[in-house]
Amino acid sequence: MSKRKLKVSAIKEGTVIDHIPANQLFKVISILGLDKVSNQITFGTNLESSKLNHKAIIKVSGKYFEDDEINKIALIAPAAKLNIIKDYEVIEKKVVDVPDEIVGIAKCFNPKCITNNEPVTTRFTVVSKDNIALKCHYCEKITSEEHLKIT
Ligand code: CTP
Ligand code: ZN
Repeated sequence: MSKRKLKVSAIKEGTVIDHIPANQLFKVISILGLDKVSNQITFGTNLESSKLNHKAIIKVSGKYFEDDEINKIALIAPAAKLNIIKDYEVIEKKVVDVPDEIVGIAKCFNPKCITNNEPVTTRFTVVSKDNIALKCHYCEKITSEEHLKIT
């Protein structure tokens, strides 16, 4: 393969989150709270990728995420790859894991659930990770991937 050009400039220090489905880019930004930080952030979307037809990439300068922070995006970007950059070099690559428990982020599928009627933060146990299924801590109903809505 020919040496490709970087479509989004290289960063000196920080984290590159690659292989995000293009349609989830802004949700990933919001889940990671990147709309509220002062770090330099660059992103690109609808880039060509062999794995996903349309992928997005986010580069956050000067930030290294904790595993439980980054794993929150696994629900919507399970194929995401993290590249830890120090002095322009990729020093580590990580994948994301779906956590065992999800607090906030997802909506319960049950319209009668307390979380849909009172200001209560959602809370789920992940009962399946391949085809995501979340069991609500409050109403015990299962929200499956097809019905998954991100708050
Ligand atoms: N990157 C960056 N700044 C750097 C080094 C790398 O923004 N100083 C980005 C690259 O643009 C790429 C990602 O980090 O999107 C991973 O870099 P690298 O491992 O060099 O690229 P690939 O070999 O293409 O990795 P992969 O196949 O895992 O995507
Ligand atoms: Zn519920």
